Amino acid sequence: MQQTSPKSAEAQAGDHVTLIDHATGRQFDLPVLEGTDGPKVIDIRRLYRDTGYFTYDPGFTSTASCDSRLTFIDGEVGILRHHGYSIEDLAANARFVEVCYLLLHGELPNKKELDEFDHHITYHTMLHEQLNYFYRGFRRDAHPMAIMVAVVGALSAFYHDSTDITDPYQRMVATHRLIAKMPTIAAMAYKYSVGQPFVYPRNDLDYAENFLRMTFAVPCEEYVVKPAVARAMNRILVLHADHEQNASTATVRIAGSSAANPFACVAAGIASLWGPAHGGANEAVLNMLMQIGSKDRISEFIKRAKDKNDPFRLMGFGHRVYKNYDPRAAVLRESCHEVLNDLGVADEPLLDLAMELERIAREDEYFVERKLFPNVDFYSGITLKAMGFPTSMFTVLFALARSVGWVAQWKEMIEDPDQRIGRPRQLYLGETARTYVPLSERG
Ligand code: CMC
Repeated sequence: MQQTSPKSAEAQAGDHVTLIDHATGRQFDLPVLEGTDGPKVIDIRRLYRDTGYFTYDPGFTSTASCDSRLTFIDGEVGILRHHGYSIEDLAANARFVEVCYLLLHGELPNKKELDEFDHHITYHTMLHEQLNYFYRGFRRDAHPMAIMVAVVGALSAFYHDSTDITDPYQRMVATHRLIAKMPTIAAMAYKYSVGQPFVYPRNDLDYAENFLRMTFAVPCEEYVVKPAVARAMNRILVLHADHEQNASTATVRIAGSSAANPFACVAAGIASLWGPAHGGANEAVLNMLMQIGSKDRISEFIKRAKDKNDPFRLMGFGHRVYKNYDPRAAVLRESCHEVLNDLGVADEPLLDLAMELERIAREDEYFVERKLFPNVDFYSGITLKAMGFPTSMFTVLFALARSVGWVAQWKEMIEDPDQRIGRPRQLYLGETARTYVPLSERG
């Protein structure tokens, strides 16, 4: 007898829906699957085979592309959990490496497990020395995200001993390498852009501290990591660690579904994250706030955001899944004040401006009707600016934090026995068959 995996036993507890084809009068029963939380899903895997129809869902607004145990979002209420732990709980209490372990292994680590995991991450932070020369090929004014895409992709040319995705040990080493090397790669991208020497990682510092030191230290003086900045960095990393099937994660999964190596898949994820509709929004928010400049100009920009003939959108507002306050934005809004306080920034006009913009937008019928709330990117940039990061590094920080989500989701997919290559279909709207016309006969 075939074993039923726990996955299908859980999922198939549901009912079915009936599809009626009015053109032919035929009826088809489609199974309904039920997860541990969230809406039920209609299983259409056999739809084409049984009915000859595809479904049409550009942008995947109604399509679950996979099953997953990592992250749960209830966008109507504004809930985000990783393996059951709320993001508020993790942001308040967990170190980023603990969240990495949780995403990779499904449980928080005990002391011994954490020490071991920390050791693996710490001892993979250095880059192959040859990789340093890659940076020199870039213009100094290259956007650091461009450097990230290239250098992370290039890891597959250096770490051949962890690209065999069929070997669980190599998969594990690749995940450790990616999590560990991202801060080094990101800090080097920054250092290159400001013309300062690269700073090597240090094993006596924790993940957030090490990244801050590699970014901000210079060889001519001792760099001491301020605890308030390290705490803020840790919280930002935790808040961005994973977010179920967003554009970049779906990109990583689809790239990985062809059995491509994880370094190449994560490079694809970084490329997808870069866009202003996704991770690039944190940079765009700060640029927008600087463009607005003062509170008396807010109404002008709100008007533009509502004008369908104007491409301007209120950056950091709206979300495909959250139709309520993004819980990450709520944490960041609070912690923004705390960080500014801790860093002795008495007055940050951009924060006042952002809060006023939020107040006005949330009272505006257009935003209320469409359930457009601040998302994670709305307040993160102000915190990062106070910590000393230039705007061009904001999306890099998002990529650094999200790397763990990408590799954990990739690992989950590769280890899923039902995994198949991702291959969407299409609704074809082009010409039907026609015959080649010689050039001399074309009008
Ligand atoms: N400003 C003005 N109008 C907006 C905005 C906005 N920021 N976001 C959505 N709308 C309107 C949109 O025009 C549409 O109006 P209508 O129904 O009249 O046509 C309605 O709200 C629904 O929007 P949509 O574009 O169909 O929603 P979507 O789920 O396809 O897009 C989004 C989601 C995040 C891309 C979009 O809200 C947006 O562009 N926001 C600004 C960029 C941003 O902040 N991105 C970060 C997202 S969160 C972090 C991450 O994913 O990295």
